[in-house]
Amino acid sequence: MTRVSKRDSDVDDATSDAEAEADAEAGAGDEAEPDVGSDRVPVLLVREDRNYLVEPGAEQGTDLGVLEVPEDVQPGDTIETHLGDEFRVRRLRGPDLFHHFERTGAPMVPRDIGLIIGETGIAQGDRVLDTGTGTGVLSASMARAGASVVTYERDPEFADVARENMKLGGVAEAVDIRTGDLTAEVDDLEESSFDVMTLDTGDAADLVEHAPDLLVEGGFVAVYSPFIESTRAVVETAREAGLSDVRTRETIQREMQFDDRGSRPSTAPVGHTGYLTIARNV
Ligand SMILES: C[S@@+](CC[C@H](N)C(=O)[O-])C[C@H]1O[C@@H](n2cnc3c(N)ncnc32)[C@H](O)[C@@H]1O
Repeated sequence: MTRVSKRDSDVDDATSDAEAEADAEAGAGDEAEPDVGSDRVPVLLVREDRNYLVEPGAEQGTDLGVLEVPEDVQPGDTIETHLGDEFRVRRLRGPDLFHHFERTGAPMVPRDIGLIIGETGIAQGDRVLDTGTGTGVLSASMARAGASVVTYERDPEFADVARENMKLGGVAEAVDIRTGDLTAEVDDLEESSFDVMTLDTGDAADLVEHAPDLLVEGGFVAVYSPFIESTRAVVETAREAGLSDVRTRETIQREMQFDDRGSRPSTAPVGHTGYLTIARNV
């Protein structure tokens, strides 16, 4: 199925697109070329504030006319609408996933993805267990960094949307989306079969207790929680389970403003997105 999406301005979580764009510089910096398994890699079509993610061969309606995307489209090309307006073709990069994926469960912002990849060292060849999939931005970003990702999503409709998002992100081959509740299925997973676990669910504490069995020695678990209460439960469970180096940090960032009157942090609301707890299986 060919899907297209336009830059989305109605962010439904606590983080605005403006913040996310500022964050984008910090996120997903470890990306490798995605293992797309085909030459139909989606591309961005860009003109001023218009920004579409489309597959080669697709047709895209715009307010400036219809764009017909050639099968052999390449980054750097220029495509004209049928009314003669030009769009530039760009290669998709990690932070674009946040703007273009169809949204279900609140997607993680590029800054927090960057922290997870940096703190756990996710790299080519790693096996990652992720829950819940939600929109799939974290899963896709880790796959773009070279990992093979198994991710669980208990909502079947969310899982279907995420599968389409993986195609759009060019990582369908690297992300195995399993429909189901991981708390019910965790005992079926093979011991020591993951290098990293990433958890972005309200019930993460129930899953952290399984980390010593599921992770290789030296592997990491990273838990993202928007609230202090669930973060505390995660920390206590991680300690009881015998994980090491259990550390929690708030992820927060201040955007700077530079204008004629001077330079200072933005007076927009605080950029808190969550608490990130990292622990190690040693
Ligand atoms: C905040 S979203 C995850 C967003 C995701 N990290 C991203 O970057 O797009 C949380 C998702 O976890 C799912 N979920 C919560 N608990 C789960 C569980 N125990 N097993 C599987 N999915 C779960 C929810 O349905 C929801 O879609």
